[in-house]
Amino acid sequence: MGKDNQISIKLEYPSIENFTNDNYTELINTLHELNFGYYVNDAPLASDAEYDRLLKLARKLEEIHPSWQTPDSPTFKIGGEVRSDFKQVKHEPPMRSLDNAATWSEFLAFDARVQKSIGEALWYYHVEPKFDGLAIELIYENGVLTTGSTRGDGEFGEDVTHNIRTIENVPLRLRKKLKYISIRGEVVIRLQDFEETNKELEAAGKKIFANPRNAAAGSLRQKDSSLTAKRKLVFFPYSLGSWSNDFILPETQSQIWNKTFPELGFRSYEKAGIYQISNLEKYYLSMIEERSTLPFDLDGLVIKLNETRFWDEMGSTGKFPRWAIAFKFPARLAISVLESVSFQVGRTGIVTPVANLKPVNIGGVMVKRASLHNKDEVERLDIAVGDTIEVTRAGDVIPKVTRKIKEGPNRKLIQFPDRCPTCSSVLKQEEVYLRCINRDCESIRLESLCYFASREGLDIEGLGEEWIRKFFELGIVKDIADIFEMKLVDIQKLPGMGSILPQKILDSINARREVDLSTFLTALGIANVGPHIAEVLSAEFSTLEALQDANEETLLQVHEIGPGIARSVSSYFKDKQNQKILKKLFSANFNLKTAVAIKKSNEFQGKTFVFTGSLTRFTRSDAESMVKERGARASGSVSANTSFVVAGEKAGSKLKKANELNIPVLSEDEFLNLMKEGNK
Ligand code: IVH
Repeated sequence: MGKDNQISIKLEYPSIENFTNDNYTELINTLHELNFGYYVNDAPLASDAEYDRLLKLARKLEEIHPSWQTPDSPTFKIGGEVRSDFKQVKHEPPMRSLDNAATWSEFLAFDARVQKSIGEALWYYHVEPKFDGLAIELIYENGVLTTGSTRGDGEFGEDVTHNIRTIENVPLRLRKKLKYISIRGEVVIRLQDFEETNKELEAAGKKIFANPRNAAAGSLRQKDSSLTAKRKLVFFPYSLGSWSNDFILPETQSQIWNKTFPELGFRSYEKAGIYQISNLEKYYLSMIEERSTLPFDLDGLVIKLNETRFWDEMGSTGKFPRWAIAFKFPARLAISVLESVSFQVGRTGIVTPVANLKPVNIGGVMVKRASLHNKDEVERLDIAVGDTIEVTRAGDVIPKVTRKIKEGPNRKLIQFPDRCPTCSSVLKQEEVYLRCINRDCESIRLESLCYFASREGLDIEGLGEEWIRKFFELGIVKDIADIFEMKLVDIQKLPGMGSILPQKILDSINARREVDLSTFLTALGIANVGPHIAEVLSAEFSTLEALQDANEETLLQVHEIGPGIARSVSSYFKDKQNQKILKKLFSANFNLKTAVAIKKSNEFQGKTFVFTGSLTRFTRSDAESMVKERGARASGSVSANTSFVVAGEKAGSKLKKANELNIPVLSEDEFLNLMKEGNK
């Protein structure tokens, strides 16, 4: 990128007593320049020792003159700020995720959709690495980093500014003083640093991270930012969220990557480039080869339509942009030896065989255990203890044994238990699964409790699995109702709690004393009822009472509910013990939010809306929810079946097509009126 003309490096300063505020400003500016030279230009302008000396000097000055410190002071990189809870941050526009292609032909299908939608003869893709870490958003106001947050559910994330400020290559001050801009990207950890972090955790008797992604995520969610500072996290930008009008969006993603990001003070990952469909496969294959030599764990490639003008035109489905796709790399393999098999009882009573392996490194992660799923799978693999086997790891899925490589000399056949390893009751064979049907089995009760409080369930933040296990062991929490009956003194009983934690745990329990029906249904862990089915049930029945009253036949009438689900839901609520626990739960000051009817009406049933152009009165996802609530569909492309096209500013080809097909076109206001007044 060449030398920057703004360089104002000053390495010599007066002694501390004679320091003026102006000297301090010069010192801070110098530190920013040194950071930029080091992290972006790859051209250090001073030695590491020199940098450390100046940083310490700045820190000392801030101790003496606290009022001098600005929010973009490089001393924040050292960490030290402690936050007890993370506020919510709304992402505007939402941080979407990416659709996936697993094979070349799936990618070609994406390419065909692009062609159809933009209708051009030739187009280019910007091909980037798919980083495997944690997505974050950085908000800069007047050039200063003011908020850094995690992606969360895409719409709301957690404010972890104090931790993000410690990430070495996140600029605390942009090199252009824009009024407002949000930058999105991924926080990752180098494989080597990941291994070292785990070694340190292990030595301290703490729980280790399962993979680099968890390490990055865990490090960013620390309360004390000096812990994050130690983890050597790295940030790579990949997109822009929103911006003030003193910034003009470049014409291509490649310019955003190679020009905007470095000009603002970010380091873009070098391995990215412009490709056409004709030379992309070769590049994909070469990246698979190169992958094991890279310092970071990459998940695949992200392929984005290079010209930004197409982005609005193509728009997005609820979840994904239509102009980009993730092309995943194939799973990684390793060879190991099956040393023994243990049996784990899950929350539904299913007993799963787990392979204990000779530890093996797969793509930077030490793997010691792998799932064997069930008896059929063990028979299919035809493996025995002592055999050499192949193991794969894909994303954060638990590693899997994929095949037998060689039989061991003294191989021992795997013996499946006929009694539960926890409660010794006789196991029942249900299709391919062995199931413990003793509802009082400690493992089942404990695993259900853990699930109930977990992220997938009620998401009681401070009440992690380790604490639940301890409460359970001490008999303080025996069922889900007990969680809500706990008093501060009960929590304080746990050894190792300290003085602050009990109140925190109680606060996070209190924060979840009222949840919506679908979250609650998911958390109950009823067999066959995951988050999607929970939503279907809650949309249909609205209240728990109505659902409890429904028999199998009524349940079967509901779209998407098959006999398996109907049976497990109805028997769950018929069960006397479950009824007792639910009763106890609702008398322990736990409530369900009154359901807002998801489907407000069916008055737009069968209608299809297309949103195009830039929308200013509402977000695309809000608009999509509005039409869905009224029984209609939102689609991304205009066809003869489209009922209405809602056109914001700068609407392009879709508006043209709507006019050609004589489809009613609404302004944003007209659309809002239609939603309010109905289809009169
Ligand atoms: S772009 C609208 N680019 O992949 C564009 N995402 O499955 C959405 N990711 O949550 C994201 N590398 O955390 C984009 N070069 C890259 C990426 C990338 C990794 C992650 C990101 C996102 C997930 C989507």
